[in-house]
Amino acid sequence: MYGEFAFLYDELMDDFDYEGWFNYIEEIFRRYDKDIREILEMACGTGSLSYYFAKKGYKLTAFDRSEEMLSIAYDKLRRFKNVKLLRQDMVDFKINKKFDCILSTCDSINYILDEKDLLKTFTNAYNHLRDGGLFIFDINSYYKLKELIGNNIFLQDRGEIFYTWQNQFDLDTNICNFYLTFFYSQDGEHFLRFDEEHKERAYKNEEIINTLKEAGFDKIDVYEAFSFHPAGKESERIKYVAMKK
Ligand SMILES: C[S@@+](CC[C@H](N)C(=O)[O-])C[C@H]1O[C@@H](n2cnc3c(N)ncnc32)[C@H](O)[C@@H]1O
Repeated sequence: MYGEFAFLYDELMDDFDYEGWFNYIEEIFRRYDKDIREILEMACGTGSLSYYFAKKGYKLTAFDRSEEMLSIAYDKLRRFKNVKLLRQDMVDFKINKKFDCILSTCDSINYILDEKDLLKTFTNAYNHLRDGGLFIFDINSYYKLKELIGNNIFLQDRGEIFYTWQNQFDLDTNICNFYLTFFYSQDGEHFLRFDEEHKERAYKNEEIINTLKEAGFDKIDVYEAFSFHPAGKESERIKYVAMKK
């Protein structure tokens, strides 16, 4: 769960090109010949991607389940009249309207840990889409979670933020446990420590496709993120574009 990590998230994600992700998603709209105006973003986190859709004038509803993440998103997005921020859970959210597109980026879907909840999430997304609408999301691939993150330990020293990221991949559940320890300082001398545990489920491509079909989606395309090439065995981030008939 995202707690205090939320307040360091943007700094630690500074090498993620959210503007590039935004341009890529707009390119999807063009390639699929869709006139997208109203967007729902599930698990928007700190609103870094939301910001670009808001700035471009899309009518955006965005939600997350972490209050801490939402508090950062609120600061980024409050000046936009075309944005509504909510606290909801992807698995059982209810919004009394339908959208042209539903988005979920940066492996938020991997945070859904079991198949039943995955089906509920996809069915819920389907029910909140207009006919012809697009559901666009990315996941950390099975390959990345098992082989690259797997049982490895990563450390990063950024001066005022130092963190360790210890991982353990459970082969029975396909869940990768991330044990995160952060030390951060505001004055460069005194460091505060906090710990968080996160879990991401590794899904195989067939599991995602079958669950999307079960939820009712019709045409499903799978790309190596952020391209329009098919995903391969060693793709780390996989992008899905599923259409409601
Ligand atoms: C890796 S962050 C990605 C945030 C954002 N989409 C981005 O691109 O930076 C994952 C986000 O998923 C949210 N999340 C995880 N499970 C959720 C759920 N069941 N419902 C809503 N949000 C969820 C977390 O709170 C967190 O903000």
